Parts: sequence; C-alpha cells; structure tokens
Amino acid sequence: MTAVAAQPPAPAALTVRPARAEDVTAIFETIGYWAAQGKMLVRPMQNIFENLRDFFVAEVGGEFAGCGALHILWGDIAEVRGLAVRPEVQAKGVGRALVAACEAEARRLGIPVLFAWTYSVGFFERCGFHLIDKSKELHPRVWSECLRCPFFVGCNENGMLKHLEGVPMPRNLPEPPPTQVPPGIR
Ligand SMILES: CC(C)(COP(=O)(O)OP(=O)(O)OC[C@H]1O[C@@H](n2cnc3c(N)ncnc32)[C@H](O)[C@@H]1OP(=O)(O)O)[C@@H](O)C(=O)NCCC(=O)NCCS
Repeated sequence: MTAVAAQPPAPAALTVRPARAEDVTAIFETIGYWAAQGKMLVRPMQNIFENLRDFFVAEVGGEFAGCGALHILWGDIAEVRGLAVRPEVQAKGVGRALVAACEAEARRLGIPVLFAWTYSVGFFERCGFHLIDKSKELHPRVWSECLRCPFFVGCNENGMLKHLEGVPMPRNLPEPPPTQVPPGIR
C-alpha cells in the first residue's frame, strides 16, 4: 500500500450574503454577547427585524460567523453598524469581509462616505477608515442611535470615516436638517 502524505485541512469557505429572517436569532445573540462586554450597543430583536434589509451575514463553512449592517443616514453618508463576529472565528477575516460587503452596497447606492461609531479603532483602520474629531467633523445625521445608548451621557466611542474613492457626491443632494446633538454627548 502506498503511503499518502497527510494534507492540511482546507480552510472553511467564508461567504457573505444579505441577511434573512432566519438569521435574526443568531444576529441578536452575537450582538448581545459583545454588548454584554461593553463592546457595542445592544440591539433589540424588534430593531433587528425592522432593519433586516440593512444586514449582511457571514458564514464560515456554511455556519453563521458574524453580521454587519449598512444603515443609510443621508445621501452622502451611511453607517456601518451592528458589526459582530462570533468569538470562535475572530481574526480570520470575517469582520473585514462584512465591512467590504457594506462598502460594496454603499457604492451600489452611490453613497460616497462610510461612518462608524466604534471602540475597535485598529480594526476599522485596517479597513481603510480614519478617526475624526468628534467635536468638529461629525455629519449632522450621525446621532440617530445615541438616544437609546446607555453611554449617551459621557460618550467615549470613536467616530471613524472612510471616503469611497471613485464615488461622487450625489447630484441635487438636499441639505440635511440641522444637527441636533443630544446633550452630554461630548
Ligand atoms: C472587531 C471585529 C468586528 C473584527 O472582526 P474580525 O473578524 O475579528 O477581524 P478581521 O480578521 O477581519 O481583521 C481584519 C484586520 O483587522 C485587524 N484587527 C482585528 N481586530 C482588531 C483590533 N481589535 N485592533 C486592531 N486590529 C484589529 C486584524 O489583525 C486584521 O489585520 P490585517 O489587515 O493585518 O490582516 C470583531 O473582533 C468583533 O466582532 N469584535 C467585537 C464587537 C465589536 O467590537 N464590533 C465593532 C463595533 S462597531
């Protein structure tokens, strides 16, 4: 009998697709896991269902590996939010693939800037984002979720932006309503 050299196992395939109703429990639990550790804002199940078309799901070997959402704030900016990777598959490119899916969706929609509120500055920098000065450079529409955030007073999250090369400003973009910065946010 001929000896066959042992082959290393092939890496499980990573795929990203739009979320479906059947993903909501896994999305809720993964976000809840990290929210309980203070890494992100908790997201009620109702909120996930209502915003399900924003969400992408990553799978590794056909199993749920993480989620991320692109939420349109205005014609010139969309927020990457609800980004959560299952702890067992961290640091395998899942988060980056989810951000790439959000970016592709923003490009498809003709939205030239991505925004994120985050504590994971290093990760977003690896995805091409840069830190901004919260006291000066925030778009007037980025406060949409602050009112339901437990850290609303004395917020210490970082604001990060990514300008999407090659995506022009939409034509005829209306002025956004004036900033309504919630008290205590700075
Ligand atoms: C942050 C998070 C989304 C990153 O996802 P991930 O799948 O573990 O990260 P990736 O493997 O895609 O990493 C992509 C790159 O970012 C780097 N990176 C990942 N997490 C990092 C961190 N916390 N600090 C610095 N760099 C980080 C990786 O080393 C990799 O670098 P490379 O370009 O040299 O390869 C994930 O760890 C997570 O869900 N964390 C908890 C929840 C959270 O913080 N969500 C973000 C809220 S907005």
